[in-house]
Order: sequence, then C-alpha cells, then structure tokens
Amino acid sequence: MPKTAACVVGALLVAAASTVTQPALGQSEPQAQGQQLYEQNCAVCHMPDGTGNPPTFPALAGDANLQDLALIVENISRGKNNMPPFPNLTTEQIAALATYIRNSWGNAFGEVTTEDVAAYMVGPEATVDQASIWDGVFTAEQAARGEEAYDACTKCHGRRLNGAADDPDMKSTPPLARAAFLRDWDGRTLATLFEFNRTTMPQNNPGSLSDQEYVDLIAYMLSVSEAPAGDTELPPDPAALGRIVIENRAGP
Ligand code: HEC
Ligand code: HEC
Repeated sequence: MPKTAACVVGALLVAAASTVTQPALGQSEPQAQGQQLYEQNCAVCHMPDGTGNPPTFPALAGDANLQDLALIVENISRGKNNMPPFPNLTTEQIAALATYIRNSWGNAFGEVTTEDVAAYMVGPEATVDQASIWDGVFTAEQAARGEEAYDACTKCHGRRLNGAADDPDMKSTPPLARAAFLRDWDGRTLATLFEFNRTTMPQNNPGSLSDQEYVDLIAYMLSVSEAPAGDTELPPDPAALGRIVIENRAGP
C-alpha cells in the first residue's frame, strides 16, 4: 500500500467536507457537474486529486490515455477488469465526467459533448435503469453466508461492522453498515463496492476470498443496514451490481 490508511480516509473526508458541489470560479457548467459526479462515483478508487492508488487503481492525473475518448466511454459504460461499469449513468453524465477528468489536475485534453459520447455508446441511453438497495435485492440465506465470510473482516472493522476493531492493536476503520456507511456510500453502486472490496480487502490479504464470498458479504452489510431481503440473490456480476444504487435513506 503506497498510502497509509489514515491518509486515504483523510483525503476522502477533506473531499466530502470542502470540495463537493462548489464550482470553482470560471468552471463551466459540465465541468462542475462532472466534478460532483466524479467525487460521488470515482474518487473512492481514483482519489479526489486523480492520483489513484497504483497499480491497483491507475492515476487519471497525467494519464495520456485520456486523449482517447472511446477508451474513457468504454471504461465507464462497460467497465474493464476491476474498473466497475456504470450502467446507471446517462450519456450526458458520462460527457460531464469525461470533460472533468480530461481537464483537471493539470490534464488539458478538451471538452466533450453528449453527442461525442453518444457516438461511442453501445446500445441506447434507454438502457439506463436503476434499482436501489431498498428493493429487496439479496436473500436472507445469502446474508447468512455473508456473515460467515465476514470473519475475514472483524479483526479491523469490528464484530458490529461499526469500525471499532476487535483487535486492540488495530486502528479504527470505516464502518461497513448503518447510517455512517450509507452516508459515505450514498449514490455509489454495488459494483463499486464489489470491485473496491475484492481488489483492496481484507487489507492484510486483498483478493483472498472468492467472488461469491465478496458478493455474499455485500448482502450481509446491507442486511445489517436494515435493507430488506427479497427472493433473488445478488449475483457476483459487476454489470448487474452496477444497476443497484446505495441510497442513504431509512427503511424501504
Ligand atoms: C472500484 C474502483 C474504481 C472505481 C469506483 C472507478 N474506477 Fe476507473 N479504473 C479502475 C481500475 C481498476 C482501472 C484499470 C482497468 C484496467 O485494468 O484497464 C480503471 C481505469 C479507468 C480508466 C482508464 C485509464 C487508462 O489509462 O486506461 C478511466 C478513464 C477510468 N478508470 C475512469 C473512471 C471514472 C470516470 C470513474 C467514475 C465514474 C471510475 N473510473 C470509477 C477502478 C475504478
Ligand atoms: C487489516 C485490517 C482490515 C481488514 C482485515 C479489512 N479491512 Fe476494510 N479497511 C481497512 C482500512 C484501514 C480501511 C480504510 C482505508 C481504505 O479505504 O483503504 C478499510 C476500508 C474498507 C472499506 C471502505 C469503507 C469506506 O467507507 O471508505 C470497505 C468497504 C471495506 N474496508 C471492506 C472490508 C471487507 C468486506 C473486509 C473483509 C473481507 C475488510 N474490509 C477487511 C482495514 C481492513
């Protein structure tokens, strides 16, 4: 890990506290919308300042590949390896995001219009469809399996998922359920949570669980947050998980 945990959490807190939604002077409309979308959807991996966490999450600051709009649109709309797809974003939102990442942190690759993005989108914008974690998107059985897999996480995130480490030698960590978690993750999709977890967690042995265990863990985290169980399991499939948005509200 090139960055300390405290530094990463600190960066996220600073972003949440100071830079969200305030368009800088002279910033264009799409640039401001792009910044807000970036902070909500992308900063958890690529960092608020675009430095990422290489090699796991590439830096977007100074990334010459961002000249290539086709690559940007494909990464965002369909995902790639551990980059989650964002089937919940419209063509217009992707254009705002592309404009933001191409023209921030010293990048200067030019603005992008909705029409430019549409030319590279596969399938019509009508494919944008969203469910929420409050729609009964996992089963009770799946959450019970997730509770067992959660043994790999208690050491640092606590038996109650509140971030108070069970191991007294460990520092406190972010909570993985309830109000504080829902507030931090509001608007992000389960594909982001799935990819973040399977590439970086458990922090002392990333990627050590199976994909099925990683998705079962999400079911457990949601059930502890009191999201209702339903009839179908969450699949270990980023494209499907990308349609399910974490909404910060109490109860169904
Ligand atoms: C869960 C972590 C995660 C999130 C969230 C995420 N990305 Fe990524 N991103 C990745 C990874 C991993 C890669 C490398 C993919 C690969 O193997 O090519 C990547 C690659 C990219 C690339 C291609 C970089 C290059 O040089 O090839 C772009 C552009 C990008 N991401 C933009 C975004 C944008 C915009 C968002 C928000 C809408 C976002 N990412 C959200 C993990 C993430
Ligand atoms: C060795 C300690 C350790 C273990 C074990 C561990 N984590 Fe973490 N986790 C951390 C630390 C430290 C952070 C904060 C830094 C970061 O985001 O990388 C964190 C952050 C997270 C976050 C991001 C929370 C947020 O709001 O930013 C999630 C989600 C997460 N862990 C899930 C898990 C899951 C699921 C497991 C079990 C498979 C797990 N962690 C096991 C230490 C750990």
